[in-house]
Amino acid sequence: MHNGTTITQFIIEEQRRVSGATGDFTSLLNDVVTACKVISNLVNHGALVGILGSAGSENVQGETQKKLDVLSNDIFIKSNEWAGHLAAMASEEMDDIYPIPASYPRGKYLLTFDPLDGSSNIDVNVSVGTIFSILRCPGEGTAPSKQAFLQPGTQQVAAGYAIYGPSTMMVLTTGNGVNGFTLDQNIGEFILTHPNIRIPTETREFAVNVSNMRFWEPPVRRYVDECLAGKEGPRGEDFNMRWIASMVAEVHRILTRGGVFMYPLDSKMKAKGQGGKLRLLYEANPMSLIVEQAGGRSITGPERILDLQPEDLHQRVPVILGSSAEVARIQGYHLEA
Ligand code: AHG
Ligand code: MN
Ligand code: MN
Repeated sequence: MHNGTTITQFIIEEQRRVSGATGDFTSLLNDVVTACKVISNLVNHGALVGILGSAGSENVQGETQKKLDVLSNDIFIKSNEWAGHLAAMASEEMDDIYPIPASYPRGKYLLTFDPLDGSSNIDVNVSVGTIFSILRCPGEGTAPSKQAFLQPGTQQVAAGYAIYGPSTMMVLTTGNGVNGFTLDQNIGEFILTHPNIRIPTETREFAVNVSNMRFWEPPVRRYVDECLAGKEGPRGEDFNMRWIASMVAEVHRILTRGGVFMYPLDSKMKAKGQGGKLRLLYEANPMSLIVEQAGGRSITGPERILDLQPEDLHQRVPVILGSSAEVARIQGYHLEA
C-alpha cells in the first residue's frame, strides 16, 4: 500500500506556487502522463498483444519504424489533441507538424516528443522510453507553423521522460529541479519516489558506442583514450563503460549514479551531411534541460545545447551530457582543439 504523493498532486501543488497559473499546464501534463501509462501497458505486454517487430514503413529520417513507434505516436496524439491545451505537436515519427484539428479548441502550448526512444531494444526486451518537451506557442491566435517550434531549449516550459524498465518511471522538470515518480501498477498512479534528483559529481563511468571510434573527432577520442588508459593513464583512475542504445535508459542511469553519455559528431555523419545522431527538439533539448536541472551539463562539444537556435524540426545534433566536471573537461578538449 502506497500513501505517497501522486504525480497529479505534485504538479498541482507546484503550479499553485506560480501566480496566474490557469490549470491548463497541469491538465496538459496529466494527459501526457496518461499517454505514457498507455504506452507502458503495451510495452509490458509485448508479444502477448502482437506489438513487437517492424511496421514495414520508414519515418522522415529514413529509419525503419517499429510497430510500437507508430502505435506510441498515435497514443500521444489521441491523448493530447482533444483537451484544448495545445496548438500543435511534433514528433520523430511525423514528417510535418500536427496542428490541432479544427474540431477541438486550440490552446497555447506546443508539444514535441519521441514516442518511443531506443526502439531497436523493443524486440530484445531491453528498456525503452518516451521523451517529451513543452513549449509556449508564440503569436496567440494565429495558426501554428513549423517556425513556432524552432525555439532554443532554454525556452522549454517543461521536459520529461518515461522509462519502461523493470519498473515504469516518469522523470519530470518544470524548470525547478527534477523529480522522479514510479508507476504503481496496482493503482495506476505515478508516485513520487525520487524527489529532487541530483547527478553525482564524482563519477568514473562513460557511455558511447565504441564501434564508431574510428570516425570520432580528436577531442572525443582523447577523452575516451584517457578513460581507457585507467590508473596508468593521465586520469590516474580506472573507468567503467556502459552502452544500452536507449538514450532514456542512459540518462536515467546518469541521473541515478552519474557518468557521461556521448553521441558525438563523427566523420561518417559528416559525410552524409548529418549534424549528429540525436534530434534536437525531442531528444537533446528535453534531456539537456533535465540534466542541467539536476546539476549536470549538456553540450554539443564546444557549445551548450540549450542555447542552440534550432533551424529545422528534425535537426540532429551531437550530444555529450552528464556529470558537470566530466562534461566541462570534454568541452575544454573541444575548445582547445
Ligand atoms: P530512437 O529509437 O528514438 O530512434 O533513438 C535511438 C537513439 C538513442 O536512444 C540511442 O542512444 C541511440 O539512438 C543508439 O544508437 P546506436 O544504435 O547507434 O548505438
Ligand atoms: Mn530516440
Ligand atoms: Mn524514437
